Amino acid sequence: MSKLFSPLTFRDLTLKNRVFVSPMCQYSCDLDGLATPWHLAHLGRMAMGGASLVFTEAAAVTPVGRISPHDLGIWSDAHALALAPITDFIKSTGAVAGIQLAHAGRKGSTEVPWRGGQAVTKEQGGYTPVAPSAVAFSPTYPTPEALTADGIARVVDAFAAAAKRAVAAGFEVIELHAAHGYLIHQFLSPLINQRDDAWGGDFDGRTKLAIDVTAAVRSALPHGIPLFVRISATDWVDGGWDLAQSVRLAAKLRELGVDLVDCSSGGAVPNAKIPTALGYQVKFAETVKREVGIATGAVGMITGAEQAEAILTSNQADAVLLARALLHEPNWPLHAAAQLGDDVAWPKPFERAKKIESAR
Ligand SMILES: Cc1cc2nc3c(=O)[nH]c(=O)nc-3n(C[C@H](O)[C@H](O)[C@H](O)COP(=O)(O)O)c2cc1C
Repeated sequence: MSKLFSPLTFRDLTLKNRVFVSPMCQYSCDLDGLATPWHLAHLGRMAMGGASLVFTEAAAVTPVGRISPHDLGIWSDAHALALAPITDFIKSTGAVAGIQLAHAGRKGSTEVPWRGGQAVTKEQGGYTPVAPSAVAFSPTYPTPEALTADGIARVVDAFAAAAKRAVAAGFEVIELHAAHGYLIHQFLSPLINQRDDAWGGDFDGRTKLAIDVTAAVRSALPHGIPLFVRISATDWVDGGWDLAQSVRLAAKLRELGVDLVDCSSGGAVPNAKIPTALGYQVKFAETVKREVGIATGAVGMITGAEQAEAILTSNQADAVLLARALLHEPNWPLHAAAQLGDDVAWPKPFERAKKIESAR
């Protein structure tokens, strides 16, 4: 049995393998943040393809926490109700449903990418975003309002309430989105956070929101439900958030009961130079795992079965998260198993195709 297709246990949950579907915004809601048939088809198809853990896209914990007016939300019980058939379906395939809880901060109120990504007006469903400081991401983005202390407390509460709703909807893994230049990362990064109060300045101030959200969400969750946190391990800019600070943060997250740190990078500022290449972020997962002794997920340009297997057997990470490779080929995990010589179950209605795997 390969490492990639060996089970992985967190708390009360055992995942059948170590291939996870990385969160992917679909911008396919109407203006209400409710899941649509697109989400059922997309996430359901991913579950049918053999991944053990299928994450939703970033689900906004408040309406202004959406990147675009078409993002998925989890800010009311109606949102949980709309997601429940999706978690039911994912479970029926033998996979586990995970949800990424998110707040876009200053990257909120923008148009969907295929319509340009620029700021949207109120008439188009837009809203005034919030951030640590009143500084726009770029000239085409809306200028956010700086959060007050009360506003920050409401954000923390919104994450905790969303986590409870997610469990009620059938999600069995919760991931906090603290990466890619969204709200929590905006507080972490010295390139963005210009506050001079308890939520800014030194490492302790900048990490306070991440810590408070993590603690509130952990205590809102049943003990058996695993909690992951996605970080941008570096801003790729001198003077920005970096790997050394990520290691310090991950150590605190571990103490708070976080089960896995999902190591991505970038997104804080528009002008960073990112050396994208196969597996270019794996070294972040490796360093966090080694230095902190916490499970990590590797993500970013992982496209091949043998590449994924090597990441795990060389102890660089405990699991891999794939995004674009799975959009190309939702059956990637089923084919990867065959390539690594593992006999894994296919969905029963697909079994006739499994028999001709060798003819592909
Ligand atoms: C269509 C699309 C939507 C994405 N949306 C999210 C998201 O909601 N949350 C997130 O953390 N990352 C998001 N990402 C980033 C992916 O999860 C992943 O980290 C990135 O694409 C690198 O992995 P890959 O090389 O396997 O695609 C998105 C990526 C794509 C392609």
